[in-house]
Amino acid sequence: MEKEAALKRIRELRDLIEYHNRQYYQLDAPEISDAEYDRILNELRDLERKWAGYVDISDSPTQRIGAPPLEKFNSVTHLTPMLSLSNAFSEEEIIEFDSRIKRLLGNNAETIDFVAEPKIDGVAINLIYEKGVLTVGATRGDGFVGEDVTRNLKTIRNVPLRMKEGRRPAPSRIEIRGEVYIRTEDFKRLNKRREERGEPLFANPRNAAAGSLRQLDSRITRRRPLDIYFYALGDSEGVSFATHWEFLQALHEWGFRTNEHIKQAPDANACVEYYRDIMERRLTLPYEIDGVVIKVNSLELQDRLGSISRSPRWALACKFPATQETTVVKKIEVSVGRTGALTPIAYLEPVRVGGVVVSRASLHNIDEIRKKDVRDGDTVIVQRAGDVIPEIVKVIESKRPHGAGEFEMPETCPVCGSRVVRLEGESAFRCIDIACPAQVKENIRHFASRGAMDIEGLGEKLTSALVDNNLIRDPADLYYLDKGDLVGMERMAEKSASNIMAAIENSKRPSLEKFIYALGIRHVGEHVARLLVKRCGTLDAMMAASEEELGNIEGIGPIIARSISQFFREPRNVEVIEKLRKAGVRPVEREPGKEPAKAESALQGKKFVFTGRLDTLKREQAKEIVESLGGEFTDSVTKKTDFVVAGEEAGSKLEKARSLGIPVLTEKEFLEMAGGG
Ligand code: IVH
Repeated sequence: MEKEAALKRIRELRDLIEYHNRQYYQLDAPEISDAEYDRILNELRDLERKWAGYVDISDSPTQRIGAPPLEKFNSVTHLTPMLSLSNAFSEEEIIEFDSRIKRLLGNNAETIDFVAEPKIDGVAINLIYEKGVLTVGATRGDGFVGEDVTRNLKTIRNVPLRMKEGRRPAPSRIEIRGEVYIRTEDFKRLNKRREERGEPLFANPRNAAAGSLRQLDSRITRRRPLDIYFYALGDSEGVSFATHWEFLQALHEWGFRTNEHIKQAPDANACVEYYRDIMERRLTLPYEIDGVVIKVNSLELQDRLGSISRSPRWALACKFPATQETTVVKKIEVSVGRTGALTPIAYLEPVRVGGVVVSRASLHNIDEIRKKDVRDGDTVIVQRAGDVIPEIVKVIESKRPHGAGEFEMPETCPVCGSRVVRLEGESAFRCIDIACPAQVKENIRHFASRGAMDIEGLGEKLTSALVDNNLIRDPADLYYLDKGDLVGMERMAEKSASNIMAAIENSKRPSLEKFIYALGIRHVGEHVARLLVKRCGTLDAMMAASEEELGNIEGIGPIIARSISQFFREPRNVEVIEKLRKAGVRPVEREPGKEPAKAESALQGKKFVFTGRLDTLKREQAKEIVESLGGEFTDSVTKKTDFVVAGEEAGSKLEKARSLGIPVLTEKEFLEMAGGG
């Protein structure tokens, strides 16, 4: 190949590889196989070798590809030790830090200015550049000697292989320090992929970054979404800075990525403000941070302050409350929610996480428990996700007590003892007993609600009070209440008690649709209730139908059929239905299989308007009758209105109907027309 063509091809291949890197690492959407990728890479490497005198390979993707696995890492002694930071946990400590510095410098008058930075929660690394070229990259190790992970670091795209020349030429030698980390989103994706492949999950982004960096095979590191921020100067030769801020500017010019939230802070108060501000925005950042770092800006002052027991006196790590902690699962217990779902809960040895004491964490469902394999007595890592709800991240298996068995879901409801069921396609085990004390409030509230039995005045509060006072234990008990029971309750006036008694009495003749809906069978909403009634006609027919028969009804799939059949097979539910019947609750039924007499109905296709106060019907009921017989229930009188039904004190609508010559019916006439009474 000619030189020109070769150089052109080299450029093409580099772009192509960068493109596929991006697809793979950043977008998680690889477009080519690993083999294909390696083929292009080899072609590039061959060309770069052949035309070595003519191309600069220092920033070529061939330099980032990793290499065959090592036996072990070599040790590297850092040119200057990598110190750690002293920690602070409160705003006061920032002010104390400032006073201490002033005292040490014998200078109480002048303000000290600082640089404030996010404390990235990753892995510290040290890079040595000689004459602008990366020669060694190492982990922190014990602070003096680290591991040589140069090949691995070279696979990270934001690690410059060669310093950019800017206003400042590259120094003869410089140590630059930074933090390798994994973005939160990338971390989740990485773990998801590992889960799919059945590989062990990383507990958090920091562990994932550390594990990825310490791979002996750098081709594995290459496939991990590592990134880096640079923030500190080690040894240097042939360059000097007056301030840390100036050093950060130089880093930027040389092509090193610095964090965009680093700020100059003119005094200690500004540092406190920064600490607050970043703590507040912590969760909106795309990577995890565990605090902020405050550094004296002047390098001369840094020098004068020096260090003590491995930490510089000129810097302070102001930590945020930890969001992850280790604790022990005392026991796993199952609780029953308002809707009957059984939720396993881990009761924990209380531990402070993110400033709050956590003593329990939901394990959600059996799938979640199996996935994490949490057992009684396990030592676990807990975190407050999004800093709110505590969750168990991971079990530390090495600390599992001897003989701890796998968790098993109970076969009966821990609250009422009924058999629990698991519906297809659901993770949750459920108790479907309508009278289960854990659910009874919610079940009765639903039973009495508008679209169901429509018992006016029986809201959440009253229901709850009735249950708490042991006056009702299931929905049927409502019909056995007497006024005396109600009047005896707190803040219940004679008049309201009468109203409620009347509302209960008036609810005894619901349509079968509403009655079925009121039972709160899982997956049976108003629509499914209508389908059931249309097909089965009567309650007995519905209760007797097999799962298969139910599943054959149009619009009802196997999951719904199963749920219905299970509901009617639960003896306690049948008991409650019998009890309702005994109390005189009789849903309005139809002949099985028969559609409402739509075609014969005089209401079919007619538009009705109701106005004024009716004697026996409620507006909702009137609407129900009209619609079930194929008519249309509308609000305003127009030329198209067919009938106006007028009760007492009917006003303008009645007048309008008369002026338009629209027939006006009494309630009684309407009921006759509807074929009932
Ligand atoms: S400066 C002597 N700046 O925190 C000062 N460290 O506990 C050297 N870290 O080992 C560190 N973000 O891993 C510095 N903006 C930042 C940092 C930072 C994270 C880590 C680093 C260090 C540890 C100290």
